Amino acid sequence: MKLDAKAIRYLTSEDFRVLAGVEAGSRNHEVVPTPLIVQLSGLRGGSGVHRSISVLAKTNLIAKVKNAKYDGYRLAYGGLDYLALNAHQKQKCIYSVGNQIGVGKESDIVVVAHSSGSQRILKIHRLGRISFRTVKTNRDYLRHRNTGSWMYMSRLAAMKEFAFMKALRENGFSVPEPIAQNRHTIVMSLIDAFPLRQISKVPRPAELYSELMDIILELARFGLIHGDFNEFNILIKEEEDPDAKGKAPANVDDENDENIRLVPVLIDFPQMVSIDHANAEMYFDRDVNCIKRYFQRKFHFVSDVPGPSFADAKKNLLKNPGKRLDVEVEASGFSRKMARELEAYMKEVGVDGDAGAPRDDEEEDDDSEEEEDGSEEDHSDDGQPEEETGPSDSLDDSSRRLEELRV
Ligand SMILES: Nc1ncnc2c1ncn2[C@@H]1O[C@H](COP(=O)(O)OP(=O)(O)OP(=O)(O)O)[C@@H](O)[C@H]1O
Ligand SMILES: [Mg+2]
Repeated sequence: MKLDAKAIRYLTSEDFRVLAGVEAGSRNHEVVPTPLIVQLSGLRGGSGVHRSISVLAKTNLIAKVKNAKYDGYRLAYGGLDYLALNAHQKQKCIYSVGNQIGVGKESDIVVVAHSSGSQRILKIHRLGRISFRTVKTNRDYLRHRNTGSWMYMSRLAAMKEFAFMKALRENGFSVPEPIAQNRHTIVMSLIDAFPLRQISKVPRPAELYSELMDIILELARFGLIHGDFNEFNILIKEEEDPDAKGKAPANVDDENDENIRLVPVLIDFPQMVSIDHANAEMYFDRDVNCIKRYFQRKFHFVSDVPGPSFADAKKNLLKNPGKRLDVEVEASGFSRKMARELEAYMKEVGVDGDAGAPRDDEEEDDDSEEEEDGSEEDHSDDGQPEEETGPSDSLDDSSRRLEELRV
């Protein structure tokens, strides 16, 4: 289920009102009866509404469902995508849609552009989409899932991610700039960097390792545990190191490495938990161990310093507490109740973050890792296996292929 924005330019404002009517009706109807759609769209003259319904159904934004009691429609993921895109466009936050650069288990990542031409990232949360791996254990659950729950849960994931990204950014953490959130989507700044997973050589692994451990401790000092801190969710920006200027390189090969500083940027926050969470220690240790394991396997680096342990993090927090961002996020509207609902749903549908994803670097020695990421088969909303998508097209490529949208 990829974002296909092509049809959006052909939709009229009436079509969007009818689509919003189906969305509103889905909050308490699994199948929204046609007369209710007419009523909720608030348009006079039924024939226009029926024309819109047929356009929306043809474009697969809504799907006709024959119920035992009545016929009606349900909103498809595409319909929700269009409603969110339309809102972002109206708020002048997105002008055009480019390439999809990532298909995660629970989200799609799309490059979009602002009217100024600057590129941004649109992350579309798709919590109802279950990987092939988890579909087996969740078959019964999936059969009974309803439109309302995936829409609501994906929205919660977007709200949570946006709230945490904002709080982190405002407190000096290296994360993308959160720009907007609408329904199940967020718009953020594009980081011109690759995930650590794709970096084959790090000049000074000890330095990067200790920087990453410091980030884990710093998050804890602000009351947070990332919960999915791993090589997929850490982007590595290459910046020129001002301190290195003037230093004579040891040899020509090292010249570039010497002058370049690797700056980690943290992404992907739907699994973030408070340091007071019942399983906080487990999440903390998992984050630390993910990095330890990865550095050992990929860079053959093992730190002489043990830990950090959860006890270290707690001690650090007591000695020098930062602002409690877990509390701030709750106050900003992503309530504790929402957090609990989202966590329960994620557990139920088998969301385990990138850390739980099957890795193709599980084998012992894999210095030559230029291969593509694991290609899991996804099942879209209609139960059809999805096409596989390779990892990232280059960003340059995507900018060339930006599609114009009509507001
Ligand atoms: N702001 C950004 N700038 C550049 N690239 C990004 C940005 N956000 C995401 N990406 C790219 O998309 C990939 C997936 O993003 P992210 O980790 O947020 O989603 P995900 O892993 O699909 O989420 P989930 O773990 O919930 O399924 C990243 O590994 C990165 O390559
Ligand atoms: Mg991720």
